[in-house]
Amino acid sequence: MFSERFYLLFALLVLGAGACRQDATPTAKSPGFLREPKAETTGTTDALPLPQTGEGNFENLVADFESKDRVIWQKPDMVIALLGDLHGKTVADIGAGSGYFTFRLVPKAEKVIGIDIDPRFITFMDSVKVRLPQPYQNRFESRLAKYDDPMLQPGEADAVVIVNTYGYIENRVQYLKTLHTGMTNNGRLLIIDFKKNNLPIGPPAEFKVAQNQVERELRSAGFTPVSIDNESLDYQYIVLAEKKAAIDTPKH
Ligand SMILES: C[S@@+](CC[C@H](N)C(=O)[O-])C[C@H]1O[C@@H](n2cnc3c(N)ncnc32)[C@H](O)[C@@H]1O
Repeated sequence: MFSERFYLLFALLVLGAGACRQDATPTAKSPGFLREPKAETTGTTDALPLPQTGEGNFENLVADFESKDRVIWQKPDMVIALLGDLHGKTVADIGAGSGYFTFRLVPKAEKVIGIDIDPRFITFMDSVKVRLPQPYQNRFESRLAKYDDPMLQPGEADAVVIVNTYGYIENRVQYLKTLHTGMTNNGRLLIIDFKKNNLPIGPPAEFKVAQNQVERELRSAGFTPVSIDNESLDYQYIVLAEKKAAIDTPKH
């Protein structure tokens, strides 16, 4: 058995090496964390409304997502613990990016699906995967999704995390309804994103969604918010919701 401490050290080394080896092909646009002016858009791509830091510069995005200071404000271990016991469970990380959460989840769950719409991150996560010890490789799957569909099979995910991605999803209620179908009954959905106030990091205001709006959208899509935490993370709120099992009404 591999200890989690060994795995984390290994994963961080792999991520660092992977970031240096990537071929920076400026294709799709992806958001970063740092606040920078909007880049000009050409209007010629069918990509995202995601003008943001590091746009087109893949190495900058990966360096941003994997920055050493992040562990201080992101508290990934505390966040992952909110999902409860993941033994035997399938977890989907929507908007996985470089796999910051994905690869921390791998030692804890039976299967982890790293979902993204940007093929560069899919390639990056796959390059991390092949360097993991075999038992962990078997637990990981990358999945290229669509802007409007996380591409989960019905009832596939027992738990889902959406970190620093929610504000980039369009037609969110419809998206959440599709996601709802892809989850098991009593499945947990964790949404973490930047607070609306002025922060030293995070996306521009137009890509921030207020925490109470997240709650409203979750309810509209059929999820039940079970806890809201504005305190544990300095820059972000944590919304935990559940897909409640439908209650069968007895027939008379
Ligand atoms: C700011 S990054 C966050 C990455 C990762 N969750 C993290 O916290 O390090 C946002 C990610 O969401 C992806 N993304 C944007 N819109 C998406 C959508 N509709 N479905 C899935 N992924 C999306 C982007 O390609 C990018 O990798």
